[in-house]
Amino acid sequence: MTPKIISVCNLKGGAGKSTIAVNIACAIERQHSGACVLVDADKQATASIWAESGQLSVRVLSKVLQEAKPEDRYPGMLWITQIKGLAEKNDFIVIDLPPGLRFSLAAVTAVSDLVLIPVNPSGIDFHATASFIDLIQKSREVRGSEKPECLIVPNRLDRRTTIAQKLSLYEQFGEPIAPAIGMRTSFAYAFDHGQWIGDFAPGSVAHREIQQLLDHIANGAAAPAAGEAINSPS
Ligand SMILES: Nc1ncnc2c1ncn2[C@@H]1O[C@H](COP(=O)(O)OP(=O)(O)OP(=O)(O)O)[C@@H](O)[C@H]1O
Ligand SMILES: [Mg+2]
Repeated sequence: MTPKIISVCNLKGGAGKSTIAVNIACAIERQHSGACVLVDADKQATASIWAESGQLSVRVLSKVLQEAKPEDRYPGMLWITQIKGLAEKNDFIVIDLPPGLRFSLAAVTAVSDLVLIPVNPSGIDFHATASFIDLIQKSREVRGSEKPECLIVPNRLDRRTTIAQKLSLYEQFGEPIAPAIGMRTSFAYAFDHGQWIGDFAPGSVAHREIQQLLDHIANGAAAPAAGEAINSPS
């Protein structure tokens, strides 16, 4: 079963949050027509700009989450209320979050059933991700809760290194790892055309990878033979 509120978040900029949020939301919408809303919580408005073409199959709503001040006792309270309101009226909410949040992360962990964490295979990204996961794990301790669940999404894996070499690096986080998404230029072209990958390049490797990620989220399905997929052309 697909979790109800899925946030796509990482402290690191450019990790692929918007790309994965838009495509996963559209993939959910493809399976459950009219049931999913994509929340653009980033003032950069990438998801909203993506939707300006009118060709994205999912509804996109702007609900920007601002960074809180360290002294705020209840960061993002209004935002939490807005997201919960949307969750009462819709089956699935996917949230595209901005990079660099710290104090407002409490609001993200409070509303999310699942946090997808896209991570590019570079030392800089691993470093930022380790800090982010540390914050999530501390928030679970404070709340005495297993939630939110996290899923690391290895993103932009290239063809030069085997998937096994790369994936071993992701194990350091101690959180579940999703099927990887390769370096696929078609994601950027899909944005240029204002479409999700399932409409822009149906049946492509990039489309299949998004579908595999959604299947993994929904069913806990075993990871595909990703080495083969990563080495395929996009
Ligand atoms: N799997 C991929 N293959 C190729 N390019 C990708 C992939 N994922 C993301 N990109 C590209 O990387 C860039 C950053 O992606 P995106 O905007 O989704 O990241 P982000 O984490 O949302 O960034 P920000 O922190 O600025 O919000 C974009 O040009 C996007 O097209
Ligand atoms: Mg973004």
